[in-house]
Amino acid sequence: MIKDSFGRVHDYLRISLTDNCNFRCFYCMPEEEYDFTPASRLMQTDEIIKIATLFVAQGVKKIRLTGGEPLVRKDAAAIITALGKLPVELVITTNGTRIAEMLPTLIEANIKTVNISLDTLQPEKFMLITRRDVFHQVRSNIELLLQHKIAVKINMVVMKGLNDNEIVDFIAWTKHNPIQVRFIEFMPFTGNKWTSNKMFSLDEILAVVAREYTLLPVAAEPNDTAKHFMIPGHEGSFAVISTMTAPFCSTCNRMRLTADGKLKNCLFSQGETDLLTPLRNNQEILPLIEASIWSKAKELGGQLGSHFEKLDAELITNRSMITIGG
Ligand code: GTP
Ligand code: 5AD
Ligand code: SF4
Repeated sequence: MIKDSFGRVHDYLRISLTDNCNFRCFYCMPEEEYDFTPASRLMQTDEIIKIATLFVAQGVKKIRLTGGEPLVRKDAAAIITALGKLPVELVITTNGTRIAEMLPTLIEANIKTVNISLDTLQPEKFMLITRRDVFHQVRSNIELLLQHKIAVKINMVVMKGLNDNEIVDFIAWTKHNPIQVRFIEFMPFTGNKWTSNKMFSLDEILAVVAREYTLLPVAAEPNDTAKHFMIPGHEGSFAVISTMTAPFCSTCNRMRLTADGKLKNCLFSQGETDLLTPLRNNQEILPLIEASIWSKAKELGGQLGSHFEKLDAELITNRSMITIGG
């Protein structure tokens, strides 16, 4: 069992398969030209399986594949197939563009839930945010997942003045669709030009919904990142991920492995622990993993604090979101 010094058991591993992505969302990647990590510096398929197997032996119960966009990696299907054989719940966060061609692999690997990033229901705004004209493709892939009884969570990063006026449209979408929409507070990462006035908070989101709907709180699962709500008569539900105004670190169980094989003990950790180089040198990596998690800060990587209004995003030492995977 992997524990930190606050007694939190860590049994959820997020593995980034690549920092490459077929979208160019400004809130996720730096504006300046970004060089994706060359394949030789990424964990290879067998290395991912070796590391994942070790984590599972240490009690990891859930593995989430992230990116960049995990499904643009050429050997994504092989990795998913191999990880699907481990005794672990396997899930994925994706932008939804490659679902149709990957569906047989996802089903074969017993993936029961897919989290899809979708920040707008308007095709023109979709293009403005992602710089790609594939809104309808993503929408039809969501339908495809639902037809195959795969649960879908929609991740919508709410940014003031950009898409906060669509919160009610997303809620309306849950009326006849068994989806869970998660509104996410915009978070600061290297190069994403975060400022507190671009953020739309948990309280603001709930106030917008409450103006038009009756909403009822639903009990959260242990270790959940989201605060859940239902609206009577709606087939789907919604939730809010409130990292900035109401963090949920006291129940954190997450570890992150970057595509280049570095372990991050928190989404906002400053330091990281290289696992790939020692693995390639046939060194034991378990002591490194244990030491990394033991040194985890109590909250928000020890560097965000609770007064987000005064936060200077430029002073945060971290990676860009595209290289962490959320
Ligand atoms: P579930 O496993 O379904 O609960 O998904 P998830 O919410 O953990 O993962 P997903 O990749 O869908 O991420 C949704 C949002 O939650 C993104 O904005 C992530 O950055 C954020 N998120 C995921 N894990 C954590 C976490 O451990 N801490 C914080 N602060 N945010 C997280
Ligand atoms: N703040 C909050 N969430 C973000 N994501 C990407 N960048 C940010 C950010 N700056 C979300 C995406 C994706 C998930 C992995 O992280 O919506 O679904
Ligand atoms: Fe865990 Fe860090 Fe996220 Fe808090 S911010 S929940 S400690 S990963």
